[in-house]
Amino acid sequence: MYQEKDPINITVEEPLGLFPNYVGIKPFLKWAGGKTQLLTELNKCTPLYYNKYIEPFIGGGAMFFNLNPSISLISDANEELIITYNEIKNNVEEVISLLKTFEHTEDFFYRIRALNPIELENVYRAARLIYLNKTCFNGLYRVNKKGLFNVPYGKGSGNFLQESLLRDANEFLQNTTILHSDYLKVLQNYSEPNDFIFLDPPYHPISPNSDFKRYTKEFFYDEDQKKLNDEFKRLVNLGCNVLLTNSYHPFILDLYKDFEIRIIETKRMISSNSNTRNGKDIIVIGKNE
Ligand SMILES: C[S@@+](CC[C@H](N)C(=O)[O-])C[C@H]1O[C@@H](n2cnc3c(N)ncnc32)[C@H](O)[C@@H]1O
Repeated sequence: MYQEKDPINITVEEPLGLFPNYVGIKPFLKWAGGKTQLLTELNKCTPLYYNKYIEPFIGGGAMFFNLNPSISLISDANEELIITYNEIKNNVEEVISLLKTFEHTEDFFYRIRALNPIELENVYRAARLIYLNKTCFNGLYRVNKKGLFNVPYGKGSGNFLQESLLRDANEFLQNTTILHSDYLKVLQNYSEPNDFIFLDPPYHPISPNSDFKRYTKEFFYDEDQKKLNDEFKRLVNLGCNVLLTNSYHPFILDLYKDFEIRIIETKRMISSNSNTRNGKDIIVIGKNE
């Protein structure tokens, strides 16, 4: 069983000292499970030197954009998201031009939401995702069982066209390989000794009714957490520096009981209103010493 020996308890208030050590930028998407609050702690656990950076559950990419690694590989199972990263990397001006034709009205939002992304050109798919992400309620990406985006319109003033941020992201992505893949394939095919690997999987739900978010059509089950744990150990034995985040839950603590674990208190938005509640995240540090 995992035992809290010398727990490192850190309380984190939003927005905290963002991007303190690195010349990074903010993510251009707001993603469920975004890591912005944990950046200060993640930075403290980041190795000074490493070969390439791999992030196979990229989501909004808060850590990637903060770090700005010189050689990197990012990946996710969410196809819309990966198309969007590719378009920002290769066609940012076209995405911006398209977004300039969009409107922040309820009627326009539901027309864009109703479009079937697989029938659209990739540049339109990217503009659609950015627009929906910025103008929907609470700015989160969530899909139904058919994989269709189902968040309602958010009446706030979300600015969906952040031109300079998109151009900065375009610059940051130039030395990055972007893949649409399951995380395990990415790690098995690309990880090498001295790589720095950041794993931010879908969190283990803290209770059966917890506000567990759906990111793709598929869920991440207990068996997936165990497989990820096996892969974490393989990577450490291979000689990689690995950081993993997850929820503070006995099941997860037990899986990683042989590694250094930092416990971080964070504030979370409750999706049905704009209040916050406290939660605990963990950072697991895997080093082959
Ligand atoms: C917690 S989010 C990542 C948050 C992100 N790091 C950030 O800062 O915003 C988890 C991500 O894992 C992706 N995902 C879920 N299952 C996956 C799998 N089997 N392989 C690869 N990506 C997966 C989801 O699409 C989602 O984007």
